[in-house]
Amino acid sequence: MLATLDQQTEAFRRDVLAGLAQYIPAIPARWLYDRRGSELFDAITRLPAYYPTRTETALLHTVMPEIAARIRSGSAVVEFGAGSAAKTPILLEATAPEAYVPVDISGEYLEQSAAEIQRRFPAVGVIPVTADFARPFTLPDAISGLPKLGFFPGSTIGNFVPRSAIDLLRQFRDLLGVGAQLLIGMDRVKPVERLIAAYDDLEGVTAEFNLNLLTRINREIDGTIPIDAFRHEARWNDMLSRIEMHLVATRDVEFMVSGERFRFGQGASIHTENSHKYELRGGRLLLLAGGWTPVSEWTDDGGDFAIVLSEAQPNRFAP
Ligand code: AVI
Repeated sequence: MLATLDQQTEAFRRDVLAGLAQYIPAIPARWLYDRRGSELFDAITRLPAYYPTRTETALLHTVMPEIAARIRSGSAVVEFGAGSAAKTPILLEATAPEAYVPVDISGEYLEQSAAEIQRRFPAVGVIPVTADFARPFTLPDAISGLPKLGFFPGSTIGNFVPRSAIDLLRQFRDLLGVGAQLLIGMDRVKPVERLIAAYDDLEGVTAEFNLNLLTRINREIDGTIPIDAFRHEARWNDMLSRIEMHLVATRDVEFMVSGERFRFGQGASIHTENSHKYELRGGRLLLLAGGWTPVSEWTDDGGDFAIVLSEAQPNRFAP
């Protein structure tokens, strides 16, 4: 069976086997998003306790005229991740770009959301690119002469540890070029109870989202994990300023994955996601370290979420 695995499943298998064998077991968060995982994440964004999507969308509506006034006309908008039906249209409506390039690893989902956007904005050249935006890729030739605006909403940057977040921002700079702009959403630090409520909701949707990873392992790479032997846990790691999602063993458990045996004692966990939260200046410093100079910033009245516009300025001789 293993010989016939497609590239994606093979990469999943490699990550899971290596991750589970680590001293601190961890699996990269990107594997949370199979079809079911994406549906569950969609449901999360509508939960009363999950404030980021609602807050960022409302903020975008409010400040879009100010954002539009700062964006170069005739730009190509490059969105990292397939456009969300709620946020992307707000930007496209206000800025009337020449082109819109959504970049996403899931070709199927991408085609669907790109077609929807094209229907709604017939004057914009919609050119979807199927690629993992965390790896180097090239932009379509058709937008080579246009000013570029990167769009990275949702505080997805928070799912990368700072070192990788900086690598990613630098890669965006290399891709979009000097003079480009980047509009990015960054979730703010807030009281722990609110954060935990957002990542361990009463309805149990985030728990299902997290546990679905084990179901995926069992289905795709021949696992025998008893799902009921794990529970979802959201932890605030204050030192690293992040919410962590874990799958914690509720009893001693033994299982196989792709022919390899694993043992977890009661209370041991698999770390499945980080969601970093930023203080005002910490967020700006991260952007600067990634080669992006913040030029304008907007927050909702509660100070829950920030949208930052930055520029890839030329390298200058610095003191
Ligand atoms: C996609 N990402 C920005 C979400 C977040 O808030 O970090 C993923 C998520 N995980 C659990 N709930 C939402």
